[in-house]
Formats: sequence, structure tokens, C-alpha cells
Amino acid sequence: TMHPLLPLCVLWLLPVALMLETDSPQNCVPRRLVPYHSDNALLFQEEGVFNYSTMLLREDLGLLVLGAREAVFALDLANISNKNSSVEWKVTEKQVSKCRGKGKDPENDCKNYIRALHMLKDGRMYVCGTNAFDPECDYLSFENGELTLKKTGQDGKGKCPFDPFQKYASVMLDDELYSATSMNFLGSEPILMRSSGDASIRTEFKSSWLNEPKFVSMAWVPESVQSATGDDDKVYLFFTETAVEFDCYNKLVVPRVARVCKGDLGGLRTLQKKWTSFLKTEINCPVLNSPLPLLIQDSYLWCDYNLSWKECIFFAIFTPQSYTSDVSAVCAYNMSDISRVFSEGKYKTSVNVETSFVKWVMYSGEVPVPRPGACINNEARSMRITKSLDLPDRTLQFVKDRPLLDQAVEPVSGEPLLMRRGAAFTRIIVNQVQAADGRKYHVMFIGTGKGTILKAVNYDGEMFIIEEIHIFQTPQLINILAFSTATGQIYAGSDQGAAQIPLANCERSLSCIDCVLARDPYCGWDAAGAACVSLSTPERHLIQNVAAGDASLCPDADPIKVVSLSVRVGGKLELSCPPPSSLTNVRWERGKSVLTSSPRQQILLDKLLILNATAGDAGHYCCSSVERSKAGEFTTTVTEYQVSIDPADPNVCDRSVTPKPQTNGPSVAGLHAVIALLVIALAALSAWTFCKRYRPQFSNCTNRSEQTQEAVGHQNAARPAMAEAKPLVSEPQNSCRNNNAV
Ligand SMILES: *[C@@H]1O[C@H](CO)[C@@H](O)[C@H](O)[C@H]1NC(C)=O
Ligand SMILES: *[C@@H]1O[C@H](CO)[C@@H](O)[C@H](O)[C@H]1NC(C)=O
Ligand SMILES: *[C@@H]1O[C@H](CO)[C@@H](O)[C@H](O)[C@H]1NC(C)=O
Ligand SMILES: *[C@@H]1O[C@H](CO)[C@@H](O)[C@H](O)[C@H]1NC(C)=O
Ligand SMILES: *[C@@H]1O[C@H](CO)[C@@H](O)[C@H](O)[C@H]1NC(C)=O
Ligand SMILES: *[C@@H]1O[C@H](CO)[C@@H](O)[C@H](O)[C@H]1NC(C)=O
Repeated sequence: TMHPLLPLCVLWLLPVALMLETDSPQNCVPRRLVPYHSDNALLFQEEGVFNYSTMLLREDLGLLVLGAREAVFALDLANISNKNSSVEWKVTEKQVSKCRGKGKDPENDCKNYIRALHMLKDGRMYVCGTNAFDPECDYLSFENGELTLKKTGQDGKGKCPFDPFQKYASVMLDDELYSATSMNFLGSEPILMRSSGDASIRTEFKSSWLNEPKFVSMAWVPESVQSATGDDDKVYLFFTETAVEFDCYNKLVVPRVARVCKGDLGGLRTLQKKWTSFLKTEINCPVLNSPLPLLIQDSYLWCDYNLSWKECIFFAIFTPQSYTSDVSAVCAYNMSDISRVFSEGKYKTSVNVETSFVKWVMYSGEVPVPRPGACINNEARSMRITKSLDLPDRTLQFVKDRPLLDQAVEPVSGEPLLMRRGAAFTRIIVNQVQAADGRKYHVMFIGTGKGTILKAVNYDGEMFIIEEIHIFQTPQLINILAFSTATGQIYAGSDQGAAQIPLANCERSLSCIDCVLARDPYCGWDAAGAACVSLSTPERHLIQNVAAGDASLCPDADPIKVVSLSVRVGGKLELSCPPPSSLTNVRWERGKSVLTSSPRQQILLDKLLILNATAGDAGHYCCSSVERSKAGEFTTTVTEYQVSIDPADPNVCDRSVTPKPQTNGPSVAGLHAVIALLVIALAALSAWTFCKRYRPQFSNCTNRSEQTQEAVGHQNAARPAMAEAKPLVSEPQNSCRNNNAV
């Protein structure tokens, strides 16, 4: 007789299985999960202070300047647990009551949240805070080991948000602050502004310029350097906004990139004190099966300053805008591709379809010269236009009406570098490292909504998450990430505190095979010292193979110490075998035979459980982990046991009774085993479809493309495998296995 719950269970799991199967290509599982441990990171926390969300690296002073709620800290860059100085910036009672009078929460809203923290040329810093919904900016200096605020009480409107929950972006360039925020108390007047002293240049307050935007990040690109066209430097702004150009959704939010020229002074009559160079376009990160575009959350400009700015790459993270999906993605954008869209792309223009209905279409008419929205370049100079004030009205009116370009910016190789289900990506930084193979790899460090940092590389199109490190004890959103080349350390901030981690912690790998399969470009195996060490360790030949994870280069491992155990007849035996990575499959052998799971002898994720031991259970047990990489399958012995069975105590147990054969079908324990088995099969199944290459097709609103033929093919191929949910220990099918599935 079958357990009554069993068929139900299978019925319930099958749809789950199919769902997981279709989703699995979008999920890369970290090879190693590093649970919270106080050694993972150096921490900084100040009693009673929260919301650590602004950072300024002062490598010149060896300091990390950290902005929080009502306070700024100067921490030792080498070890942020050491505080050098701090300064409070609290709101006054009068300001709190004014803020409360406007209906804001005195405990949360009516505080001073530090939002901008930038360095000035003279070594001082410029700092802005929300100041109880009345933004203020000030000068901050570090002298004689002390941080001090000048208390100038500058108006921060347009430089800093009123609302501490509002996203915000700013950069400082030549002592001029570029800020993207909201100008007013209600948060309804968005602005991209450059301010220097009393002078400012800003965006038009028009929905075609900015339409309910959420600002994400900003970066300066030195495009004037060795420019053949005499071009200007630019500031790029990433944000999301409600699209004006789509009419099939009520409110479709899209990710955008906009840019302005550093030398822009506004127009003389048209666009007076407004940007003449504000152009924007959509930025795509196509994820298969996502009906709505994913939204940008953060970007990181990676540049090798020995090369041209054209070699710079923007790495950006995206999260879904609907609750139907939880796939976060990273896309990379070639700077020269972005630049080409802005300098050559077509414009969109609005046309009145009916009396009150406006449609945005590609503009195919004549475009004025100089090109609307272009920086002042040699071509303009040849027309005796040396500054934006000289631009003709025709050009200015054109860009005032049509700041949106027709062509979207597409990511390098047309698809995400990384996709992961689960906790949303919140921040990204990227570091480049030269691996032992001489090639340079971009290593992505991604903060998540649950206080972890993912370390990932895309190896020639293969997504690979080296590890996921828990840096905070409790789940908390990573507000900010920064990287210092001076210390080679990564700094993270959350509402509860700040943390510092190194780029790599090679010691986490204890064996050569694990060190090589980790595919961490910072680490290699030192055969002489028998340790996984940092690649920067001088004068050593290290074993590393990041591109394929070829662990056959490893020397034979030392034999494992055999653990002797004894158990009495009828007793319970637990043989542990912690899998070295989440991508391995575990194999148990007794003597020469491979064990399969049964109700009495259960193979669990990290151990073998033998119930009601019999004399026949004595013997030599060996647990090995099998991990697959591009280069093949690698087996490591994890644990070995020599088990002996003591005769049972005759007073307790009747030796003449032999264990009853399992003819009665699954017991409750049996049911558990069957579930465990199904779960393992599911994991294998999702592994099977995981990380398969596919061609994403971005569905936009007019032309929703269906799943590709190839992906459908995978599904069909996978289904028979599902039906035979028999293999008790699933064969490793692919390098990535979906552990999150269960
Ligand atoms: C500040 O931190 C507190 C405590 O974690 C949190 O409840 C609050 O939402 C945070 N406020 C902002 C504006 O992030
Ligand atoms: C960092 O500083 C803390 C506090 O002074 C100290 O306990 C810790 O050992 C230091 N860690 C390192 C790696 O220097
Ligand atoms: C910060 O403090 C540390 C000792 O805690 C000291 O070694 C370092 O010089 C200080 N840095 C500055 C910039 O004063
Ligand atoms: C840039 O060039 C200098 C000198 O040529 C070299 O020392 C440095 O490592 C290079 N930087 C990068 C990021 O390649
Ligand atoms: C960026 O695009 C340029 C021109 O298309 C190309 O030469 C360069 O290799 C690309 N860089 C990357 C990282 O794809
Ligand atoms: C173990 O033995 C006990 C009694 O000897 C029996 O009740 C139980 O069902 C057995 N369990 C298994 C898994 O065989």
C-alpha cells in the first residue's frame, strides 16, 4: 500500500518542476555560499546611528568618509573598524516641528540624511543632507585628525532630495555639482542641474524631458581627451521614467541613459540657463520571457585610464518592474556604442494623432546643423559657434522639443552577463584582474537586498558566480558599494552598518581541485605550500584555470584520514559528507559498490543516514563529490569511514529477528526519502537546463516575441527525464545546479 499523501505530493511537485525548468536558464547559482561569520568582513557600526548610504574614498588621506543619518564619519581606509573622527549634523527642534507641521514623520522623515559627499579641488569636501525635508549643503574638512563642518547652511534645493526615500544621483566635476533630484517638497519637480556658486544650468520642466523619473547613478566620461572631433567631456545619467513613447500600456516605466556636455552654458534666448545638450534614450537589458523591460538600479563605469575612454564600459544592474518575476540581471554597455547612439542616432518626435492624443515616432525630417544636443565641437567651431550661447535657435528649439532619441542602447553581445533569481541586486562595482592565463577578466561584485555580496565573472558567455558572501549578520539591503585601488578592498554600507571585505579570500578553498574549480581569477593553488593563495603572491608557480576550470592540472590529493566508527545492531549511523560546493553531486560507496538511497539508508545533502543497522552494514564507506566544469568531471574524496557493527545487546534486542524486508511500501520515513529523492531529481533536472545558452529576444510592447524554438526544444527534451524520477543519486549533468529550487 502506498502512503496516501504520496501521489498528491508528486502531483504538487510536477508543476513546480516544470516551472523551475523553464526558469532555470535565468538563474545562476553561486558555486559557494559563505554563511555569515565575523571573519568575513571588518565592520563599522555606531550606536544609535543608521542609514549608512554615502561614501567618499579619500585615498589621499587614507580615509573612508561615510555619510549616515545625522552624522559623517572618517574611518581608517585600511580597517574601517577604526574611527578617526566623526561629526554630527542634526536638525534643529525648530526644523523638526516645521517638518512635522507639513505632515511628515518626525522619527523618520524629519532627520538629516547625508546624500551627497564629494571632494573639492582644495581638499575640502562638499556635503548635502535632506535636513528634515529642507535640504542643505555645507563644506566639510578633515584637519588635525578632525572632521569639521563649516556650518554655512547653503540652500540644497535641486542639489539634494527633500525626501530621504527618494533615489538620487550626483557627481562633482571641477568643483561644479551635477545633481539629479527633485526641486520641491512634493517631489514632483524633477531636475538635472549643474550648480557652481549661484549659477546653475538645469533641465526644462517638461514631461518630454523628465517624466516621473527615479534617478539611479551618474558618471563623468572624459571624452575631450585626444578627441579627433574636438568633443567635450560628458556627464551620463542613468534613471528610469514613465515612457511617453509607448501607447499600449497605461504607464510603462523604462530604463534610460541621458547625457549633457560639461561645457554647456545654456542658450541665449531659447533654453536660457537650460541644458542645450540634454539627450536621452532607452537602455536595454533584454531578459527572456520578461514582458516588461527590467529597470536599472545602479551602474558602474569601468575604465582603464591607460586606454581611450572609448574602451570604458558601463556595467549596470537591472531588476524586474513587475512582481511576477524575481530575476535580477547585469548588462554591460560599450562606451563607444553609447556615444555612437548619442552622436549619430535619430530623434523621436511627437505627432498629434487625434485632437488630444500624442504619439512619438521616429523623426525623419531635416535635422538642423549643428546637430541638436551635440557638444560644441570642431564642426561647430568652424561655423564660429564656440559656446552653447552661440547656438542658433533652430538647433535649440529642435532639442527642446525632441530630447528623446529613437534608437536604444543595446548591451555588449546583446544579452545579460549575469542573471540570478532571488534577492534583488542593489549595487555593483567591477574590478579587472589579470589571471594566470594572461587574460584580463572583469570581476563583478554585486550587493543584494539581503546583505550579501555576489562575486561573479562571465567567462566567454558563461555566467559564473564564484561565491555569495554574507557580510551582515541579519538580512539587510546593501545601500552602497565602493572599491579602493589603494587598499584593494571593497566597502559596503547598509542601514545598520558598514563593512569592508578583500577582493578575494583564497583560503576558503582547502584542496587544489576546489581552488581550481572555484575559478576565482584572484586565486591559484600553490602546490609546494599546498594552499590556495592570492595570485599576487610573488615568485610562485600557481595552478589556475579560470576559463574552463580544468582541475586535472592538480596533483593527486593526499589520502584522506579514515574515520573509524562503530554502531550496534539496530542503531542509527550518521556519516557526514559536507559537499565542497553547491555545484557538486555526492557519491557514496561501500567497498566497491555505489550506494543508492533507500528508506533505511538515506543519502541526504550532506550525510548518509543508516537506520536499523545490520551486520551487513559493516565496511569501508567513501564519500566523494563530483563536480563538472567545462574541462570535465572531477571527483574528490571528501570523507572516508570504516564502520564496524557491534553485536546487539541480547537483553535489548532479539538477535534472531532479522530486519523485515521492505515489502510494505514506504513508511513515513520512506515518504521522506521519496520526497528527498524527488527533490534531488528536480535539482538535477533544473541543473540540466541551467546555464544553457539561449538567444534572448526582448519583447517590446508592440511585438511580444515568444520563447525561442531552442528553449522550447530543451523543455521537451527534459520532460522524459522528469518522468523517470528514479536515479537516487543524480548524475551531474552540468556545471551549475539549482539548489535554490527547493
Ligand atoms: C534608515 O534605517 C532605518 C533602520 O534600519 C530604516 O527603518 C529606515 O527605513 C531607513 N531610512 C531610509 C530613508 O533609508
Ligand atoms: C581592525 O580593527 C579592529 C579594531 O581596532 C581590530 O580588532 C582588528 O583586529 C583589526 N583588523 C585588522 C585585520 O586589522
Ligand atoms: C586614523 O587613525 C589611525 C589609528 O587608528 C592612524 O594610524 C591614522 O594615521 C589616522 N589617519 C588619519 C588620516 O589621521
Ligand atoms: C597603466 O600604465 C602604467 C605604466 O605604463 C602601468 O604601471 C599600469 O599598471 C597600467 N594600468 C593599467 C590599469 O593597466
Ligand atoms: C566596443 O565597441 C568598439 C567599436 O564597436 C569595439 O572596437 C570594442 O572592441 C568594443 N569593446 C567591447 C568591450 O566590446
Ligand atoms: C526499524 O526497526 C523498528 C523496530 O525494530 C521498526 O519499527 C522500524 O520501522 C524500522 N525502520 C526502518 C526504516 O526500517
